[in-house]
Amino acid sequence: MNRRVLVTGATSGLGKELAVQLARRGWKVALTGRRQAQLDEAAAAVKAAGGTALALLGTTSDAAVVKDHYARIRKEWGGLDWAILNAGVGGRMDAKAFEAKSVVDTFEINVFGVAYWMEAVLPDMVAAGSGTVAAVSSLAGYRGFPATGPYSASKAAVSTLLESARVDLLGTGVRVVTLCPGFVKSELTDRNDAKQMPFLLETEDGVRRIIEGVEAGRRVVHFPWQLSLFVIYVLHNLPGWFYDRISARLRRSKRPPAQQP
Ligand SMILES: NC(=O)c1ccc[n+]([C@@H]2O[C@H](COP(=O)([O-])OP(=O)(O)OC[C@H]3O[C@@H](n4cnc5c(N)ncnc54)[C@H](OP(=O)(O)O)[C@@H]3O)[C@@H](O)[C@H]2O)c1
Repeated sequence: MNRRVLVTGATSGLGKELAVQLARRGWKVALTGRRQAQLDEAAAAVKAAGGTALALLGTTSDAAVVKDHYARIRKEWGGLDWAILNAGVGGRMDAKAFEAKSVVDTFEINVFGVAYWMEAVLPDMVAAGSGTVAAVSSLAGYRGFPATGPYSASKAAVSTLLESARVDLLGTGVRVVTLCPGFVKSELTDRNDAKQMPFLLETEDGVRRIIEGVEAGRRVVHFPWQLSLFVIYVLHNLPGWFYDRISARLRRSKRPPAQQP
C-alpha cells in the first residue's frame, strides 16, 4: 500500500500514538518534534509497528524549518497522501495578568505552525488532484473558555482557517479535515487535574477515533459525542450574557476549571 503520512508533534501524546497506529495500518510515517530523544523513540515505535519512519527534528513554528522538512519528504517519498498537523501547546492565562507573549507563543505553534505546513504541502496535493490535510483543533475553539484565552483563540483560528481552505479546495481532490477532540490522555492533559476533565479518553481510543473519522471522509471530526453535544449545541449557542454568568461562577468556585481540551 505504502501510503505516506506526515504527523507533526509526534514525540508524545496524540501525535506519537497517531504515528504508531498509522504504521500498524501500513503507512509510511514522517514525524516531527523538537525533542531528539523522544523523536528517536517515536521513530523506533513506528518501525516496531511495521512501518517506515522519517524523523524530522525541529519546530513547526519556523517557516524555513518547515520548508526544509517538506523538501526532505519530497526527496525521499515524492510527496504526501495525508498531512496530520497535530503539534500544539496548551497553557493557562488569566486576563487579570494578561501577557501578549502568551498569545504570540501559542499562536506561533498552534496557528502559524499549521499555516506553514499548509503552504508547504498544498501545492503538490492540488497538482496531484488528491491528498488530505487534517489539523488538530479542539472543542475549546467553540467558546472563549475561562483562563485559557490564548489556547481557545488559537483553536478558533485553526478551525476557521481550515473551514475556509476546505471551501476553497472543493473540486480539487484535496480534502481538509478539522479534528476537534475533547479530553484525551497526553502530556498536555497530564498537567491538568484529571477530576475536571469530563469524558477523558485513553490516548489509543482518541487516536482511533481520529483515524476512523478521517478515513470515513468526515469534514469535521468531533468526539466524544457527549462533550461535543454539550459544547457545540449548548455552550456555543448560549447567549453571551448567560455564558458570561456561568463562566464567572466557574471562576469563583474553589477549583478553577481545567485547561480546556
Ligand atoms: N489531549 C487533549 O485533550 C487535546 C484535546 C484537544 C486538542 N488537543 C490538541 O492535540 C494536539 C496534540 O496535543 P497532545 O494532547 O498530544 O499534547 P502533548 O503530548 O503535549 O504533545 C504535543 C506535541 O506537539 C509537539 N510540539 C509542541 N510545540 C511544537 C513545535 N513548536 N514544533 C514541533 N512540535 C511541537 C510536541 O513535541 P516537542 O515538544 O518534541 O516539540 C509534542 O509532540 C495539540 O494540538 C493539542 O492542542 C489535545
